[in-house]
Amino acid sequence: MISVRYFKDGELIRIKLKVRGSTVIELPDNVIAIPAFADMHVHLRDWGESHKEDLNSGSRAALAGGVATVGDMPNTKPPIRDPDLALRRIKDASSLKINYRLHGGVPTDLNLLKGYVSLGIRSIKVYPEDYRVIEEIIKAAAVNNMTIIIHCEDPSLFRNLNGNDSRIHGVNRPLDAEFSCALRVIQLALIHGARIHLTHVTDPRIIDLVKLSNRITIDVTMHHLLLDEDSCIEHVNDPFYCKVNPPLRSRLIRLELLRRLINGSVSIIASDHAPHTSGEKFHSNYDNTPPGFPGLETTGLLLLDLWRRGLIDLGRVIDVYSINPLKILEVNNDAQLLIDTKSSTVIDPSLFMSKAKHSPFSGWATMVRLIGLIKGGELLMVDSDYEKMFAGLISNNTLIKLSRSI
Ligand code: NCD
Ligand code: ZN
Repeated sequence: MISVRYFKDGELIRIKLKVRGSTVIELPDNVIAIPAFADMHVHLRDWGESHKEDLNSGSRAALAGGVATVGDMPNTKPPIRDPDLALRRIKDASSLKINYRLHGGVPTDLNLLKGYVSLGIRSIKVYPEDYRVIEEIIKAAAVNNMTIIIHCEDPSLFRNLNGNDSRIHGVNRPLDAEFSCALRVIQLALIHGARIHLTHVTDPRIIDLVKLSNRITIDVTMHHLLLDEDSCIEHVNDPFYCKVNPPLRSRLIRLELLRRLINGSVSIIASDHAPHTSGEKFHSNYDNTPPGFPGLETTGLLLLDLWRRGLIDLGRVIDVYSINPLKILEVNNDAQLLIDTKSSTVIDPSLFMSKAKHSPFSGWATMVRLIGLIKGGELLMVDSDYEKMFAGLISNNTLIKLSRSI
């Protein structure tokens, strides 16, 4: 048992958390527990891309970042676009310690959506390459009562220019490609009565639009909230490193986005954990630099840091990165995250559990430390500096996380 202060409904109450072992460990007041994080947009790769990440390393990265539930994306190699491959994936993930949900890829024959439903898959992921048949997809998903998670960029508005640094990516994939897609899919969702979720939204106008209907939800990433096309590139020693889909935007747009997190209009945060090896990522060539970076081990820290700095309250952190994504993933939370509010963490990608040991947030100091994660009565993650505090609760299943504190 652990006796700890627990944040519930805006209040801190002392509760006992069930963990294996008979002794009761009294945690000090600077340690608080909150519902563990849920990240509805991650790429755990594996299969033909296991050099970037595999289910095991990805789930360890999740635990290290305080995440107990993930929604995994189907753009694997080979891509998951039918129930047979989806079943193989679910079986491969069945031994993971975290809660795992798969978003199915759009099948060539939309009748196969029924096969997804019978596997318990409740959502499909739509990529820009599926955009041509978006109306058919939205109709079919509505009939099968599935949520459509949309990477919303209209490819007909893309350009193909080459430039000297990653800022060209924002020219090639402009904000209006996102806005145009959003207008169309929102209209189609309202016409066909579908439930849609727009993921990694970077356009503040879209956040204002989705207030139209409670069947439309959105998420935003920490990189689009905290980095812009100029600030990112100033911090990394590679002209194309900051390439990500959708692109980082201007400072003005980013601040408008951040304002919407602070005023409560952003209901979900997701990492879009998109691991690539450092060798693949640090590439001084536009076309050869894959988009995206790992986020499972930085998102929760950066979000909690906004709380510690007074920009949002702790209840919002829990809503956007636990309660609301859990609703979309249809998972009941069974995990708690322990946080030391008086300690801090410097983001050090060399200590990541992910195979992608780089981050645009490298060197950022966050005013919080993730020290333990309890799930199903077991201590699944512990910060190495706190091992003594949890002595007796550590088992073979516990991931000991090295963490650089300041
Ligand atoms: C994604 C990935 O690496 O899987 N990358 C990203 O920048 N979000 C794929 C993609 O959405 O283009
Ligand atoms: Zn993604």
